[in-house]
Amino acid sequence: MADLKISNISKSYDENTIIEDLSLDINDKELLVLVGPSGCGKSTLLRMIAGLEDITRGDIDIGGTRVNDLEPGKRNIAMVFQNYALYPHMSVYQNIAFGLRAMKLSKREIEYRVQQVAAVLDIEELIFRKPHELSGGQRQRVAIGRAMVREPSVFLFDEPLSNLDAKLRGNMRAEIKKLHKTVNTTIIYVTHDQTEAMTLADRIVVLDQGKIQQIGSPLELYENPANQFVAGFIGSPEMNFIRAPKGIAMGAITLGIRPEHITIAGDDTPPGHKKIKGTVTVTEPLGAETLLTVNYAENELVAKVPGIFTANVGDEVRLLLNMQKAYLFNEKGERV
Ligand SMILES: Nc1ncnc2c1ncn2[C@@H]1O[C@H](COP(=O)(O)OP(=O)(O)OP(=O)(O)O)[C@@H](O)[C@H]1O
Ligand SMILES: [Mg+2]
Repeated sequence: MADLKISNISKSYDENTIIEDLSLDINDKELLVLVGPSGCGKSTLLRMIAGLEDITRGDIDIGGTRVNDLEPGKRNIAMVFQNYALYPHMSVYQNIAFGLRAMKLSKREIEYRVQQVAAVLDIEELIFRKPHELSGGQRQRVAIGRAMVREPSVFLFDEPLSNLDAKLRGNMRAEIKKLHKTVNTTIIYVTHDQTEAMTLADRIVVLDQGKIQQIGSPLELYENPANQFVAGFIGSPEMNFIRAPKGIAMGAITLGIRPEHITIAGDDTPPGHKKIKGTVTVTEPLGAETLLTVNYAENELVAKVPGIFTANVGDEVRLLLNMQKAYLFNEKGERV
């Protein structure tokens, strides 16, 4: 069993508190994604779980054992970093086998494990190459292989795909999802990319300034964001926020509506909808849809319009907002 229990942990550097009183339960075999803006404490949290960073206060339990004072090598955890840090002078085989030598396994066992991992990651053909003879995606797979071969009970990934181009990132995302099914192990995956979080996670934890903003499945976060921060962070293009809209509930100062819930208005205004007039400032034809940026009452609104929509900058358009899909926030960014 490799469930994790993080209880009331805090982390400070001198006067600076990076993480404050954070608690989180991670289920056995779960793929949990930690997402949040740069500097919010994602890597710090991961490094505390790995044992690479001291914990100022609180406890971390893995599989029912308190690990606060266990050194990293004894936690049965493997970590994959953003800069995969392969040994340049070693072959793929040697890179993957490296950690196993320290575990004092027999030569036969090492060979067997490296071969198995190479087969799962589809890098058998590359086993005698050096890292400089590999593409970025192949190097990343070797880095994952190096973690897998130790058969850890928990994998920690810290932005492992951020060095790759967009297409490769998409492919590797699918690979990691498959890998999770194959190895059947708890994975904690850190990213600042909400798309990555949405596509990979069983559950997402949204962090901001060292505090958990919300925990839930990707769809829960998308459909029912706990506050304005989560609403703005999850979803792409991001949710529109209209400041001080007229005629809405008391206490609300911001109305949030996603681009997919704004369309071009016809003659009618269906129930639960609101018609507005705005001026086109940008059009972005994406083929299957067009992103239309419109100036409305000192707000820039982005509408995601199906198909191809042609308009010139400065054109007046009438938009239909689906108010049943709108969210209201107070001045603190809380839902009202
Ligand atoms: N050794 C350190 N000493 C002092 N402050 C630190 C140290 N390490 C990290 N910090 C600070 O802690 C905060 C959180 O850093 P962390 O690396 O966890 O962020 P992150 O969420 O991983 O960001 P990114 O997405 O940019 O990787 C940052 O403000 C950072 O400057
Ligand atoms: Mg980081």
